[in-house]
Amino acid sequence: MKFRDLYKYSGALMVVVMMAMVGCDRDPNNPGKEFAPNMYLPVGYEPFKQEKPNPINPQGLTMRLPVEGTVARRNYNTSFGDGDSAKVDLMVYNIPADSISIAEKVLKNPVPLNEKTLAEGKVMYERYCQHCHGATGTGDGKVAEMYKGIPNYTTDAYKNLNEGHIYHVITHGKARMWPHGSQINPEERWKIVHYVQKLQKGA
Ligand code: HEC
Repeated sequence: MKFRDLYKYSGALMVVVMMAMVGCDRDPNNPGKEFAPNMYLPVGYEPFKQEKPNPINPQGLTMRLPVEGTVARRNYNTSFGDGDSAKVDLMVYNIPADSISIAEKVLKNPVPLNEKTLAEGKVMYERYCQHCHGATGTGDGKVAEMYKGIPNYTTDAYKNLNEGHIYHVITHGKARMWPHGSQINPEERWKIVHYVQKLQKGA
């Protein structure tokens, strides 16, 4: 390369040097030039991560206060019946559908068994289960005439299914039985479990 050529490229060289000088910033909070920022900054709205003021919401915050009159999710640290109480949040149920054996091992019915809870369980059973499983749990509900394969709770294969197992079946369903988790809240599910356990004994 001749000296003349170097002179020719010196303009480009100057630009590169200047870019290097202004490219970095002393401010540690300034990330400088970012490459493809939407790879790590979410494009969609995220309630707990916000880079820029939200142009649509009045305070610029993406996360807004709940609408007035909104009903909070219930806290189930509540008491059932006389002198009984369950100090657990019944809403928490994260056992996946394919893990019924875990449900069997770890779940205990937090709703105390008494006349009141059993009666409430019976009402729920009549509403959600009886048309298939029958009033006595022998699988002779009206729907069973058409919808085959409904078991009899009192037979050997079913009479010993434990509370966690039954709760899980109500929540996620099993084989030909559909899930009921979106229709029946956890407290009601546990009351139904009491009632099903009564039916298992043929009582
Ligand atoms: C549409 C009819 C239908 C309804 C409604 C229904 N079930 Fe079932 N249930 C079935 C069928 C069918 C099976 C057999 C599932 C199978 O194929 O193994 C079954 C099985 C079960 C079992 C045994 C699960 C096992 O491990 O084999 C339990 C316990 C049970 N149901 C409880 C309930 C309860 C409690 C309700 C009400 C919340 C309910 N079911 C609602 C049809 C129904």
